[in-house]
Amino acid sequence: MPKDLRSFLKRLEENAPDEFVRVEREVDPVYELPAVIRRLQADRRDPAVLFEHVKGSRIRAITNVLGSTRLLAEALETTPDKLTQTYIDREDKRHPVQILGQGPVQEVTITGDDINLYDLPIVTNCEKDSGAFISGGVSTVRDPETGIHNSGIYRMMVHDKKTLGMSYEKHTHIGRVHRHAEARGEALECVVWVGHHPATLLGSQSKIPFGEDEYEVMGGLLEEPLAVVKGKTVDILIPAYAEVAIEGRILPGARLPEGPYGEFTWYYGLERSSPIMEVTAITFRADAIYHHLFAAHPEHNLTGRLGRESVLYKRVKQSVPSVQAVRMPMSGICRFTAYVQIKKEFDGEGKLAALAALAADPFVKLAVIVDDDIDIDNDSDVLWAIATRIQPDKATFFVQDSAVSRLDPASYSIWSRWEKDTMNTKWAIDATMPIEAPFEERADVPREIWEKIDLSQYIVPTKR
Ligand SMILES: Cc1cc2nc3c(=O)[nH]c(=O)nc-3n(C[C@H](O)[C@H](O)[C@H](O)COP(=O)(O)O)c2cc1C
Repeated sequence: MPKDLRSFLKRLEENAPDEFVRVEREVDPVYELPAVIRRLQADRRDPAVLFEHVKGSRIRAITNVLGSTRLLAEALETTPDKLTQTYIDREDKRHPVQILGQGPVQEVTITGDDINLYDLPIVTNCEKDSGAFISGGVSTVRDPETGIHNSGIYRMMVHDKKTLGMSYEKHTHIGRVHRHAEARGEALECVVWVGHHPATLLGSQSKIPFGEDEYEVMGGLLEEPLAVVKGKTVDILIPAYAEVAIEGRILPGARLPEGPYGEFTWYYGLERSSPIMEVTAITFRADAIYHHLFAAHPEHNLTGRLGRESVLYKRVKQSVPSVQAVRMPMSGICRFTAYVQIKKEFDGEGKLAALAALAADPFVKLAVIVDDDIDIDNDSDVLWAIATRIQPDKATFFVQDSAVSRLDPASYSIWSRWEKDTMNTKWAIDATMPIEAPFEERADVPREIWEKIDLSQYIVPTKR
């Protein structure tokens, strides 16, 4: 059987039962469903949670599928320490799609007046969200100019039973395809598919160049071709083993207000005037499971982490071959802070790595460069390097008026520091030790001795 959401949940049940729980009692999709995850997180637990009964819908819902690095590692069938490298390796081993005649995602097809988005268990997540949003749907379009599919995740607000609001940034590839369609006065066909193996979501976040197909990256990450079927009302290939697919047309020139919405920054993205999609069909499996991605919480950040780390690593490596690893830590919401670990070969190399990291991704505001003895999965270790290895005025530099995410709550405009827009000051800290000048040595017990200690030979159980 091909990999899908169900095979992933089965894998969790077998390999990592603590990472997957079920809720039998009915929950309200307005706040109560996400509140269960929030409560678990307050208790320092972060399993995927399957809700068997959601008020107002016959469809089950799952959330927090990628809510921890352990779940992320399960999605790529690896361990948390190997996540970034696994993604980098598989992202380049693309698989063309496999086209099927039919697939489970079309077991039930609803068209015409029967279409009703309110039949789906779409969740209202944060207190001030402007309504219910599809948070974990992958939007796929086929560029009419090239015929190539493009996929990404975009927040989609339910306006009414047949209309979705869609918010994309100008720099996204779907933004470009839609701009060109609008210039021709044409609607752009689109499908939003929800619920699949989480590796497909990770593939949708790959930063491959415009004109390359994320479906092929998804195949690389799944290590098998993505099986697809033709849409019922759109000329787009849709993952055959998805749970739900919403087909439609993004209308030219039409905009409606959408937002606020709890975003990856863990603040609200404010109201915007955004494009709208008119729904032409909803298809789903007979016993579908809808994926509510827990927006404004770790699942939101982790879903985008690996695609960004991959491009960061590749771009820094071009400038500084001694780069060992990169991380977008959760403390920087997996977007705004980049840790770069290098095996330094000459003085000044840390600054080169910092410049490359700041330029690699507009979202990176702070780059911290560390030596290869620093554990970049551990914020404390990185802060220890900053605390002990630098002369701050020499190690730190600032680049004013850089382009950053418009969701950066501290961003500013070309006119004023106090007017929010898409610019901010980027900064970097080269926390590496000098190479050609002497520097102090880390004090520790000899490694070859402590590593060999077998604690069972030393510590006896305490008698009560
Ligand atoms: C959970 C989640 C939600 C996202 N929501 C949006 C969104 O609403 N608007 C947007 O422009 N990008 C959003 N993104 C980022 C895009 O999906 C991502 O940048 C994607 O790689 C863009 O595709 P492209 O490289 O083909 O342009 C989201 C990412 C994640 C993980």
